[in-house]
Amino acid sequence: MRSFTEETGFFGNSDAEQLVREYGSPLYVYNENILRERMREMEGLIENFPFTANYSIKANSNLEILKIALEMGLNADAMSPGEILLLQKAGYPAEKIFFIPNNVSPDEMRFAVERGIILSIDSLSQLETFGKHFPGGKCAVRLNPGVGAGHNEKVVTAGKKTKFGIAEADLPQIFEIAKRYGLHIVGINQHVGSQILDTTPILEAVKNFLRLSESFDELEFIDFGGGFGIPYHKLNDEARFPLEEYKKELAKVLSDYAAGKKNVPLFKTEPGRYICAEGGVLLGRVHAVKTNSGKKYAGTDIGMNDLIRPELYDSWHDIEVIRNGKAVYGTETEEISVVGNICESGDIVAKERNLPKVEEGDIVCVLDAGAYGYSMSSNYNMRLRPAEVLVRADGSHCLIRRRDTYEDLLDRFWA
Ligand SMILES: Cc1ncc(COP(=O)(O)O)c(C=O)c1O
Repeated sequence: MRSFTEETGFFGNSDAEQLVREYGSPLYVYNENILRERMREMEGLIENFPFTANYSIKANSNLEILKIALEMGLNADAMSPGEILLLQKAGYPAEKIFFIPNNVSPDEMRFAVERGIILSIDSLSQLETFGKHFPGGKCAVRLNPGVGAGHNEKVVTAGKKTKFGIAEADLPQIFEIAKRYGLHIVGINQHVGSQILDTTPILEAVKNFLRLSESFDELEFIDFGGGFGIPYHKLNDEARFPLEEYKKELAKVLSDYAAGKKNVPLFKTEPGRYICAEGGVLLGRVHAVKTNSGKKYAGTDIGMNDLIRPELYDSWHDIEVIRNGKAVYGTETEEISVVGNICESGDIVAKERNLPKVEEGDIVCVLDAGAYGYSMSSNYNMRLRPAEVLVRADGSHCLIRRRDTYEDLLDRFWA
């Protein structure tokens, strides 16, 4: 057993206990250095061609993190008008935003078009709608590269079993609709799936996608999607996504594609998780330790409303136990489940783990909670969503989103 938070100096000049005392529990904490390091890696993925990494903000849309990504030179993807608004608030100009919705109304399309933001069209039916409302307009289309991958079938977004994208067989209809409405298809995008640690499916999809791109004659960009995985089992030294190896292989594929071409479109990617998962942890307080039918439980204030990934995808998050501000490790362990405060049997953060003996008052630190953590949180059971704190590069810390209040919950009703 090791301590990731101690090895990385995750809490800067403070410690988990001090942060929870100051900001309350449960609490999302982000580390700016780690976030910036991951952004830098993604920004440098393609070096010899025009390239932008678009941060997929669905993973974590905290305004401060969006500002850091902008400063680091990233563009961004939005999946909804709300995400567009947030990006504009963070200072992203229209040309740095790519809107990738699916199954939207004409009004939602207009929301992007009126702001000069290019949107991606996900089906023939939506292309027809776009054509009717915006004849002569510019858009991208989301293609299904025929290869899907991911850590759970719920995050596989290409291949044969998904609602996303337009199939290769439908390319002639794309061109027929575009011609009928005078549309300009200036971009194509794809997304294979999420939490992929093996380069094979991603490279295969890139190659398929480049082959499909040859059918288009007005392309300004080709967007390969996100999906790069992170080592969720990091305390057991799980290997990282082989970024350098992928960079080399991708460079070769792109050089082959560009050979003999006068112009090469801008290449894009859409990483979400890779950028922010490891730079975020979720802290919660242990309020009860109990044994039911021989099984031990640490009862915390981290409910499934705060972090839904374990319930939604059977996801694994490594856990550190923190006592008096110090990570407890290298001691005897026992099997225990870390559970939350929600009225659901499935409200389990970490099931049957071998952890150092947990005591009431300890802090449980859920690692790799920076992606799809707060952004998927809710008020289920009328619980308040947590606060978010950023540990700055200089080790200081600041609040970057306040905790919900009971007024927030109540003032949505008018009677
Ligand atoms: C279209 C699209 N792009 C990008 C992403 C980001 O994926 P990830 O966080 O796995 O990089 C997703 C996530 O599902 C997506 O659906």
